[in-house]
Amino acid sequence: MARLKLGVLISGRGSNLKALIEACAAADYPAEIALVIANKPSAAGLDYARNAGIATSVIEHRAFPERAGFDAALDAELRKHHVGLVCLAGFMRLLTEGFCTAWHDRLINIHPSLLPAFPGIDVQQRAIDAGVRFSGCTVHFVRAAMDDGPIIIQSAVPVLPEDDADRLAARILEAEHVCYPLAVRWFAEGRLTVAGNRVQLRGARTQPKTSFSPAAG
Ligand code: GRF
Repeated sequence: MARLKLGVLISGRGSNLKALIEACAAADYPAEIALVIANKPSAAGLDYARNAGIATSVIEHRAFPERAGFDAALDAELRKHHVGLVCLAGFMRLLTEGFCTAWHDRLINIHPSLLPAFPGIDVQQRAIDAGVRFSGCTVHFVRAAMDDGPIIIQSAVPVLPEDDADRLAARILEAEHVCYPLAVRWFAEGRLTVAGNRVQLRGARTQPKTSFSPAAG
């Protein structure tokens, strides 16, 4: 069967892109990366794509006086490569309502908190400051509001007493690299249904009822 074509949008480091590239290398993975777009030529993640022989494109947001023009250029490039699912992976631009509507339920994002807690930036420090016992990551369908939309998967990680933002970020990132390829796989397999704010996963396994942080002594 034809593999789902992904368009991955990045702004920086690209470790989630790398996780997707590695997942796509498996013969039985139902998706492939058709194109990586960065909004900055300096995005380090572009090298992961180049080294893997994946098409890359740099579309600099600064070249466009208005967001709609930038988003139209993204849209045209994605369509040129016959992309079926757009994956935001550390893409630091808000997309217009028009773009989100055009790619409705074919546009997903990964965020390093348990949304709807801590949308936006500096989320690990904010989680530590709030004293939460768990944080984690979320993969969700994108709606026009920032870090908003139906949730596909979340992974919870404990926030430990000795954590600073970097240590917590590293723990969350490990979970991200598992969650994003999994969410893409489920989408590509046609197992996700969106109803209002809720996403149903066909064939989901039952899971442990609860976990504790800190663990009971
Ligand atoms: C990740 O933490 C992701 O959740 C957030 O931005 C970061 C991107 O990291 N949206 P990378 O570029 O994938 O390494």
